[in-house]
Amino acid sequence: MGFILAASGSAIGLGNIVFFSANAYRFGGGAFYLPYFIALFLVGIPVMILEFALGHSTRRAFPQSMYLAAGSKGEFLGWWAIFNASFITMYYITILAWVVGMFFGALGNLWKPTVPVPWFEGDLPNPAAFFFGLISSWKTIACVLFVWSVNAWVVRRGARSIEAAVRVFVPLMWVFMLVLLVRGVTLDHGGQGVLFLFTPNVEVMKHPDVWQGAFSQIFFSLSLGFGILTAYASYLPRKSDQVNNAILTSTLNCGFEYIAGVAVFAILFAFAMVPQASTLGMMFFIVPQGISQLPGGSVGVIGFGLMFFLLLFLAGLSSSVSLVEALVSAIVDKFKTSRRKAIIGFSIIGALGSLCFSLPIVIDRGLQGDGTLGFTLLDLFDHWAFSHGLLVVVLLECILVGWVFGIRRLEDHIHATSKFRLGPVYPWLIKVVIPALITALLVFSVRDEFRNGLYGGKLIPEDGAGWLSILPIFAVLFWIGASVVAAAVFTLKGRYEEAGNGK
Ligand code: TRP
Repeated sequence: MGFILAASGSAIGLGNIVFFSANAYRFGGGAFYLPYFIALFLVGIPVMILEFALGHSTRRAFPQSMYLAAGSKGEFLGWWAIFNASFITMYYITILAWVVGMFFGALGNLWKPTVPVPWFEGDLPNPAAFFFGLISSWKTIACVLFVWSVNAWVVRRGARSIEAAVRVFVPLMWVFMLVLLVRGVTLDHGGQGVLFLFTPNVEVMKHPDVWQGAFSQIFFSLSLGFGILTAYASYLPRKSDQVNNAILTSTLNCGFEYIAGVAVFAILFAFAMVPQASTLGMMFFIVPQGISQLPGGSVGVIGFGLMFFLLLFLAGLSSSVSLVEALVSAIVDKFKTSRRKAIIGFSIIGALGSLCFSLPIVIDRGLQGDGTLGFTLLDLFDHWAFSHGLLVVVLLECILVGWVFGIRRLEDHIHATSKFRLGPVYPWLIKVVIPALITALLVFSVRDEFRNGLYGGKLIPEDGAGWLSILPIFAVLFWIGASVVAAAVFTLKGRYEEAGNGK
């Protein structure tokens, strides 16, 4: 029970509540659910079974379990996955810091007609104005430090303290989400949003980016390719059933995701608001603008606003702690340092990273693109670590476990404890189908990178900010350089002692 709460707490996060709705809108609403479900059954659940079984059979965090499966190559991939995920965690926590700022805004200022943004010429409606005011102020520093401290506090005792936290967070998240759902669908015209989410459209499915979107959404949403699920499963008792765990975790996650999608679309359609393809726009001003129009006077608006941001915060926190745990347990496994030291060290480095993503320096006064330097960096690193990194990790993980370790050995372990038989397709999925699909997606997207310029050629310098144009190349070099060097150092330094580590 504690494990399912923790695994689903890791899976259910900002990705489920707003990224999903934004992606579903961007890729044509109803058109999205077919690629999404295909991705879930073809890739999501099989890879989740693999990650759980790996942790459960080796009883180690991701790098060491990959080491036991495939030697140093495997270990290198294990560390690389965690460092790639650390980039994601850093900016994810910056986004959570903004959520904290918006929560305080929801007590009053967020709903005022217009709060002028000093550097923006012209009018911006609230809550957008409040949001841009917030991210271009230094207040975000305090919020970043706050979120990292809460993270460190939750993981302080590892599985025990995480379990205690998710026992409160996860049920509360479900309650908040169901309240939003009921509120959404009982509004006049709320039902149209639901229709939008379920009307199929075959045309859209011909575009490869819809498929890349669906795959990335499934990986991110299910926490695959982070090395997290393996670390969590390493704490399970010998007898637990990994197929069952994977099916339960992904059903809870995707159920939550669809409920959130219905609630968000119902609220937006009820007030004839256009959803946005930008995930952050959706979270920070489109949905709040819908909330600001809910009936029930200011008490209703403030109540629902506070609830929405608290929901985002709890969901995000139970995801980000899972990566801190994945990294810390990996370090403790290999270097036998104390947990405390590992947590403090990572939190300091992580907080510095998150602060870079919250740099409030305004670089685009017209808000044509993103508003601040931190925001732009966030978008750039998200483009690599999230849209490409997770795919690369899952690709290599399937190849190493499928071919080098031998999928049969993993299957034997799974079948020893599981009621379900995986059947003859499973090895082919892991060895051939999933790697082939991911390779195809990566080829398409790298081809786009060359055709349209890095990062879609979006950062064309305007008036004097010529240095901006080197950011895309800087981002990709830094991302690859830092994660590869760190992974190599951690792989080469020291070696595993085979003695048990008390788990
Ligand atoms: N699954 C989470 C979501 O849907 C994302 C996530 C998983 C995550 N693990 C993480 C984010 C670790 C940051 C750090 O939002």
